[in-house]
Amino acid sequence: MTGIFISFEGPDGAGKTTALNNLLPLLKSKTDQEIVLSREPGGSEIAEKIREIILTIHDEQMDARTEALLYAASRRQHLVDVILPAIEQNKIMLSDRFVDSSIAYQGAGRMIGTKEVAEINDFAIDGQLPDLTIYFDISPEIGLSRIKKDHQEQMDRLEQEKLPFHERVHEAYLELLKNNPERIKKIDATQSLDKVVADTLKVITDRFPSEFNLGG
Ligand code: TYD
Repeated sequence: MTGIFISFEGPDGAGKTTALNNLLPLLKSKTDQEIVLSREPGGSEIAEKIREIILTIHDEQMDARTEALLYAASRRQHLVDVILPAIEQNKIMLSDRFVDSSIAYQGAGRMIGTKEVAEINDFAIDGQLPDLTIYFDISPEIGLSRIKKDHQEQMDRLEQEKLPFHERVHEAYLELLKNNPERIKKIDATQSLDKVVADTLKVITDRFPSEFNLGG
């Protein structure tokens, strides 16, 4: 029995968080190992404080590199406080977003450069990549129209960026997928929620058969 680290990624409106909430009880029914679910930005006390700074709606003053450094700082603290202890204790660690989000959103979306953002994140994560990354794929048009319908008044600062931003984010995710075919697996997020959850469950249980070995 060993610890496992799985991250979940995708553009805004992919339904990632809802899918994860539906997936969790199904995963739990298939393993004796404890499952820890956490999110970025945030996931621990200090990391949540950094999240508040980054995602405040009325703050248009933030420099793109400052934002990228804050995400990397928040990630470092989340890693040390939550992810590494979970892996060490042979738990199954699920993180709603991780390093690929910064490469896509800050590197490509905010046009700092994916290589530059990967570098500051290399410093933050010190080699600790996820064992598996589930990427929920959706086009920016569909993703953004879902968000508008669901909770327009709650859109955060990054969700309010214009379509070209989200197109760059989407392109960067596809590039990451192409360059990391072993680590990153794509799920078609335009499908029904049930199908998205079922596909995700299959990818995870196929990848880690000895951890998810119960009938459930
Ligand atoms: P999140 O809370 O995951 O929103 P949702 O559940 O709607 O997907 O993420 C909030 C926003 O933070 C989202 O627009 C993506 C952005 N983000 C980055 O830009 N860089 C990062 O490194 C991370 C972790 C998130």
